Formats: sequence, C-alpha cells, structure tokens
Amino acid sequence: MAKILVTGGCGFIGSHTIVDLVENGYEVISVDNNSRSNPNVLRGVELITGRKVKNYKVDLCNFDDTFAIFQENTDITGIIHFAAYKAVGESVENPLLYFENNLVSLINLLKCVQEFHIPHFVFSSSCTVYGEPDEIPVTETTAPKPAESPYGYTKQMSEQIINEFAKSSGTQNILLRYFNPAGAHPSAIIGEMPVGKPQNLVPVITQTAIGRIEKMMVFGNDYPTRDGSCIRDFIHVCDLAHAHTLSLQYLESGRQSELCKVFNLGTGTGISVLEAIHAFEKASGNRLNFEIGPRRPGDIVAIYANNDLARNELGWEPRYTLDEIMSTAWKWELRLKADETVFSSQYGELN
Ligand code: WQD
Repeated sequence: MAKILVTGGCGFIGSHTIVDLVENGYEVISVDNNSRSNPNVLRGVELITGRKVKNYKVDLCNFDDTFAIFQENTDITGIIHFAAYKAVGESVENPLLYFENNLVSLINLLKCVQEFHIPHFVFSSSCTVYGEPDEIPVTETTAPKPAESPYGYTKQMSEQIINEFAKSSGTQNILLRYFNPAGAHPSAIIGEMPVGKPQNLVPVITQTAIGRIEKMMVFGNDYPTRDGSCIRDFIHVCDLAHAHTLSLQYLESGRQSELCKVFNLGTGTGISVLEAIHAFEKASGNRLNFEIGPRRPGDIVAIYANNDLARNELGWEPRYTLDEIMSTAWKWELRLKADETVFSSQYGELN
C-alpha cells in the first residue's frame, strides 16, 4: 500500500483529501503543527473512514524535526504539501511571516524529498498566481501577473522553486491551482474551521446566517460585471480533494512525461458574490443579512477556470453543484452550533 505524507493534514483541504486518499486505498500520515488547525480533525477523519491517521505535530520550518519524520517513515512514496499560511489580508500586514513560513517550510520539505528520493510531489497552489487575468476563463498557460499580495507571491515563488528543483531531483511534481474552495464533507463531520473571524466568502455567509456575524459586507457592487459584484469559481472541497488522489494515481501510472505539470482546479463556471449569496439563501431557506460596502483592496474583478486539462489528463470531473456547496457548508455550520458539547468533546475547544 502506497504511503503518502500529507502536510497540513489537519486543515480544511488537507483533512478532506486524507478522507479521499484513505477511501482510495492509500496509507496516510499527516504533519501539522496545529498553529492554525485543530488536531482532533483527524478524529473526524477516523469517524468517516474507520481509519486512524497519525499526525506528527511538527513545524516544517524546523529542518531537523522534519527530517526525523522521513527517517522514521522510509516507505513514503508521495507527498501532498498543503501546510502554509493563506490569509491574503494578514500577508499584507505581515509579509515576512508569510515569506518565511511558506517558503522555508517548502524548502525543508524538498531537501527531504531529495535526501530520501521521494518520487512524487503534489503542491497546493492557487489561482491567485494569475493575478487579474486579461481574459477568462484562465488556462494553465495563461501568463501569471504580478501577485496582488505577499500570500500570492509565496505561491508564485513556490511554483518556481519546485520547477527548478524538479530539474535536478528526478522527482515528478504536480502543481494544483485551486480556485475558491468551499463547502464541507456531506457527513458534516469535518468542514472549514476558520481561525478567528473568517475572511473567505462562504464561511462569512454561513456565520452570518447562524448569527455569529451580525451583518456581512459585500465588498463592492460597482465592478464591471453582470451584477457589479466580483466573480469567482467556487469548487467543492470534496471535488478538490479527489483531484489530489487522481494526481497521485496519474504520477504512479507513469502517464506524466513532464517533471512538473500544472492543473487548474475549478468548475469552469464563474459565479458572482451576489449570486453566491442568493444561492445560499435558496439552499438554506435563510435570508441573509448583508449590505453593500466599499471594495476590498487587492480583490480582482473576475476569474474562473478552464479545467479541460484536469478533465482530460487526470480524468477529474467536479461533481458538486453550487447548491450542494452551500447546503453542505450550511449543514456544517449548523453542526458546529448544535453539537457544541458533543462537538467540543470530539474537537476540543473550538477556536
Ligand atoms: C471572494 C469574493 C470578496 C468576504 C482568496 C485567495 C485564494 C484562496 C481563497 C486560499 C471577493 C468577496 C468576501 C466578505 C465579500 N485562498 N467577499 N465579503 O479573495 O477570491 O481568494 O481566498 O485558499 O488563493 O486569493 O476569496 O472568499 O476572500 O473572496 O464580499 O465578507 O467574496 O470581495 O470578491 P478570494 P474570498
């Protein structure tokens, strides 16, 4: 059985990907320092899959501690690297924190990939590398623009580091550019757990609907789009998770000829902020308390994916609809509130 190391395994996309990997026959270990995640998420993974997944509570910025994981697990056949800070606004306020954390952790990991000859490496990248695209939908060959934030620069620089590393290491690499991940596992046993006040649209919507946020703000409705609000490509986290399993299978099959290959992971459909809000209201039966406010600095007007390459090469087929993104996100928010006692016994204190 192939053994996969998942970094950031206690995070939103990491935990959903571990479920998919286990359900597809992989043995998985996680490394996550839990600085921004809850270690008990893996108990949720166990509830869903019936399999216990070990987490190494290690900071990947500590090379010796990272190296020790590989010394203890010499049978790792692949790595999926999620662990990174990802709050756009925070990265603007504290750029060095982002450059140090996101790049030093990657470099330490790649040193271990080299030392232990790990054959397959899958990296969590982002559509943010495209900046404000001149034309949409974007393909994998759409030229990246200057990033809009230090967070975005860390993703662009990480891709470059992996590209150069690939030329010398013999490891085969896949870079997955996520669009806007959202929703939750249909079981409502795992889902998105933003640390503090959420930044991303869908958790803001569900926390507003549940009353944790009094009234949410739509950041601008004066953009040159069909309804004036920004356009994004919302992709269900379970569809995103399955793309990682398919990426490993693609590498293991020997079908990838390139040393480093990029795939867009989006639905291919652009949805506006206001359309997303109305989709939530329809899916949940809740009217949302929101108002139109000023634009948010750094926001791009519109982006959505051309996902033909992932469909044709990986055999990836996004299955969840926008309605299901909203209904699973809402079911998860309800679970968080309704089962706070049961839930905290499973997850410990909610952040
Ligand atoms: C989406 C739209 C906001 C909150 C970023 C990163 C990307 C990925 C996802 C990590 C924008 C609007 C939001 C609110 C609003 N990061 N919005 N009111 O900025 O597209 O992408 O997060 O995985 O790499 O770049 O996502 O959800 O923050 O914003 O109106 O309270 O929703 O203005 O137009 P974004 P987002």
